[in-house]
Amino acid sequence: MKTYVLASKNQHKAEEIKEILGKGFEIITQTEAGAGDIDVVEDGTTFEENAAKKALAIMEATGKPTIADDSGLCVDYLGGAPGVYTARYAGENADNEANIAKLLEVLKDVPKMERGAKFVCVIALAEPGKEIKYFRGECSGRITDKKYGDGGFGYDPIFFTEEYGKTMGELEAHIKNAISHRSAALKKLQKYLAE
Ligand code: IMP
Repeated sequence: MKTYVLASKNQHKAEEIKEILGKGFEIITQTEAGAGDIDVVEDGTTFEENAAKKALAIMEATGKPTIADDSGLCVDYLGGAPGVYTARYAGENADNEANIAKLLEVLKDVPKMERGAKFVCVIALAEPGKEIKYFRGECSGRITDKKYGDGGFGYDPIFFTEEYGKTMGELEAHIKNAISHRSAALKKLQKYLAE
């Protein structure tokens, strides 16, 4: 069984990835791989740059094939912002509540038809001696005028999916996970690893 290091200390993320990739792949966190003391600064201007930076740093530290992800929200009306700044949209130490409040305020006079947005997830795979590979997943929706539901995390309560007529905050976890940008990117990674 081939082992991949996940450039993250988040055990929950590792479990989610394991579940989508299925049997045959061992995923361990960077902590389990002995690189728990490394904190990579996500200062890139694209999702690809940030994911690559994390994957390369942990691959170099562990010598093992490493995957890293970077994700965020891109709003059409804002020309794709906040993008790589999604986690700190309302400021360096902003929490979800502050980020959501800022986005709703910025879009308050924007009509429904112009509130299109997408979640993006880019996974980078760094393997010793090989060129880095990227897998991108996207999930389209629209930003609501207020919060609906309290499931999920981050911007989920204001991200409306046309397909289900609900926000991601109102969707059951297994449905959200099946249509998410992360699972789309992971499915591409799985296909590549299985080839
Ligand atoms: P990260 O790259 O996973 O750290 O996510 C960056 C930012 O995007 C954070 O503010 C997250 O809350 C937000 N984000 C990423 N994925 C999702 C999602 O599936 N739902 C809601 N917010 C998300």
